[in-house]
Amino acid sequence: MRPLFICPVCGGALRKNEKSLFCVKGHCFDIARQGYVNLLLSQQSSLKHHGDDRLMVKSRADFLEKGYYGKLKDRICEVVSSLVSSPAVLIDAGCGEGYYTRAAAEALESVGLLQSAGGIDISKDAVSFAAKRGGAVQYAVAGVFNMPLSSGCADIVLSIFAPFAADEFLRVLAPGGYLICVHPLENHLMELKQAVYDKPYKNDDVFSVPAGFEQTASEEIKGFIRLASNEDIINLFRMTPYYYKTGEKDQKKLESLTRLETRVEFGLEVLRKI
Ligand SMILES: C[S@@+](CC[C@H](N)C(=O)[O-])C[C@H]1O[C@@H](n2cnc3c(N)ncnc32)[C@H](O)[C@@H]1O
Ligand SMILES: [Zn+2]
Repeated sequence: MRPLFICPVCGGALRKNEKSLFCVKGHCFDIARQGYVNLLLSQQSSLKHHGDDRLMVKSRADFLEKGYYGKLKDRICEVVSSLVSSPAVLIDAGCGEGYYTRAAAEALESVGLLQSAGGIDISKDAVSFAAKRGGAVQYAVAGVFNMPLSSGCADIVLSIFAPFAADEFLRVLAPGGYLICVHPLENHLMELKQAVYDKPYKNDDVFSVPAGFEQTASEEIKGFIRLASNEDIINLFRMTPYYYKTGEKDQKKLESLTRLETRVEFGLEVLRKI
């Protein structure tokens, strides 16, 4: 398989040998045992933020594997498949453990519409987990604001609950390419928040179309999920941004909960590069 990623140092094409990716200028990047490549440069990797840690990654993977967000996953696959009519390059920017990446790539592959798929995340734990699952997706540890991808290489970029790097998405998309963005709506997980906080806040629900794109579709996916065990409730809480911001006293409120019905509300935006 030809590498999708380019050299993060010089921007040259990368080639693959058994254990590494390398460019003509001699920059070389080891392929990890799990199959991903770390393309974060040392000055980037010394930044404080390394993305989600192992506990968040494991919690999210366990939660998602139970199918609670299956409806969203299926809808993303339908939308992705409806956007292209010839084999496409799909990039998941901020792919986490690759739950949606794998599914979207498989959906395209099953109808002969996948040229190649790439997953990018700044968390080594998340990418390592994603790569272990195998499949047709190539994974790299890298930041979404500076992706190791050549300009105009992508037909579809996914940005699912991940940092939104509008200018970089515009750069890597081919003219006419699509950006699919999924974000939480105002009342997403409200009952979970009510179980933890005395005064739960609503999410900010502001999505604006960035320059260089036109919006071709916008939909809301709303429903309730019934969490059937304490483990699932804790996993859901740990995969949210609230987890590390919540004091011990509030976190403890979840310890005795064994069932919880909470609303899930996602906004799904489809934008086209003008
Ligand atoms: C809420 S998770 C969503 C993961 C995945 N899209 C999903 O929905 O399952 C956000 C992800 O963004 C990653 N992330 C945060 N900052 C990033 C950055 N600057 N570049 C790339 N990934 C980043 C985190 O490591 C994490 O995996
Ligand atoms: Zn190079």
